[in-house]
Amino acid sequence: MPTVELHNQPPFGLVLRRLYESIAERGVLNTCHRFWRTIRSRLREWRLGIRTTGSISGSEMDFDAASFGYQPVPYASFDAAIRCMTIRPDKDVFIDYGCGMGRAVVLAATYPFRRVIGVERSGSLSEIARDNIARASSKLKCAEVSIATLDAREYDVPNDATHIFLFNPFDEPVLASVLTRIRRSLEEHPRELVIIYALPKCRHDPLLDVPWLKLTHELKTIDSDWQRLAVYEARMESQK
Ligand SMILES: C[S@@+](CC[C@H](N)C(=O)[O-])C[C@H]1O[C@@H](n2cnc3c(N)ncnc32)[C@H](O)[C@@H]1O
Repeated sequence: MPTVELHNQPPFGLVLRRLYESIAERGVLNTCHRFWRTIRSRLREWRLGIRTTGSISGSEMDFDAASFGYQPVPYASFDAAIRCMTIRPDKDVFIDYGCGMGRAVVLAATYPFRRVIGVERSGSLSEIARDNIARASSKLKCAEVSIATLDAREYDVPNDATHIFLFNPFDEPVLASVLTRIRRSLEEHPRELVIIYALPKCRHDPLLDVPWLKLTHELKTIDSDWQRLAVYEARMESQK
């Protein structure tokens, strides 16, 4: 199986070149802002003992990715999303579809969810996610954290799943098939369920057209200039 190349620690020369390009493109103030965010993100990683930074394009993936590649959720975006939702300790179950190196999985597990599950198609990224969970174990409030390595389209939605996290993981056909499975699971086992969905602003949010989903929050985060982060509640016919 081909391995995934990680670009976690760029050499110093490359950092300087990026800094120069960033100042030329965004100006000093915005570059300082971004730099500060990077420092804060590295601090969070250090505190949790995990490594989830880096980005991998779809073509570099170790599977035939009809995907947008790997990029971790910004810490500030995850914090904003989790703050606007209720978590019932030892009852709610969080699933991150396309969990990559496991940043959102680890962060969710610092809350008292009954279970936290990451679903990831890449074998290499799944291994890194498992390693990150083990490294952060002393900081986690959730005792049952796991990674399922398979295509999201084939994943059987657990009938107690209540929180679904989708950080721009895949294109619309895959998303549609995942949503069909989620809807079926809700029809068979009616329950409250929220979906947190992030995608680049330039794309139309397909969840807006799903009749059984109701937009409840649109979050303003530091990344709002490029990213739309929205929270939906499932409202099935029987619950209306
Ligand atoms: C943008 S990353 C999101 C990372 C993570 N959720 C986070 O918030 O830090 C998208 C991930 O979705 C995974 N992915 C893409 N298509 C997939 C599929 N069909 N099934 C499962 N995972 C998939 C990619 O390998 C990648 O790791």
